[in-house]
Amino acid sequence: MKQTGGSEDQKRRAAESAVEHVADGMVVGLGTGSTAAHAIRELGERVDAGLDVRGVPTSFAARELARDVGVPLVDLADVDGVDVAIDGADQVVGVGGAGGVEADDAPDAADATGAADVVLVKGGGAAHAREKLVDAAADEFHVVADPSKVADAVSVPIPVEVLPAARTVVAAAVRDRGGDPELRRADRKDGPVVTDNGNLVLDCAFDAVDDPAALASALSATPGVVEHGLFVDLAHSVHVGTDDGVDVHDDGS
Ligand code: A5P
Repeated sequence: MKQTGGSEDQKRRAAESAVEHVADGMVVGLGTGSTAAHAIRELGERVDAGLDVRGVPTSFAARELARDVGVPLVDLADVDGVDVAIDGADQVVGVGGAGGVEADDAPDAADATGAADVVLVKGGGAAHAREKLVDAAADEFHVVADPSKVADAVSVPIPVEVLPAARTVVAAAVRDRGGDPELRRADRKDGPVVTDNGNLVLDCAFDAVDDPAALASALSATPGVVEHGLFVDLAHSVHVGTDDGVDVHDDGS
């Protein structure tokens, strides 16, 4: 499992804050990763106490944990919609730079009006295809993170899930855009990481991502790309757990 920078207490505070958006009767998107796992555990406790929700997992791991803690599950295809999704991120841009969550007008995160769009990089756990499907389908998408995830600009490699046969052509397309793609290797298996969908992941490093929305569109338009980890302007709020509380950035909508 990948290592992350924040403490478990910070992650738990962020998760508990986001779970406050969940109400009786809701369908809840269950994110993947160590921070979203705190939200799933918190939901499990609330289900034990009588909360009536159904969870839509974004990965094998989220499904397994939800089962363990007693959150009833449902497939995305079997519901009319998702009320709330709670998910983590590997990097969060547009909430005020490292260590803060005040309004940010960093050039790569600002729209034409100067208002900052939240940009997330996801896919550290290779679950970003289903995560984006569920998070984008939700009426409200709440991000949970610790302060180590907050940045002024996109500066981590962008995970790109590709059809296995498309690995080399997508890598060439990424290089044409100035990126440096690297096939993600498995830790305890010879060969590559294989996603829950049977695909491969290219981690694509860029010197600078001046226009995340443009890069997101270009990656989406590349044949063979199943999904990439840039989530642009999808989040309704970002909950950053700190050592003594939670900083909440709301998109105002
Ligand atoms: C899974 O593929 C990712 O998108 C995770 O949501 C992200 O890596 C955050 O995980 P942590 O909360 O463990 O840092």
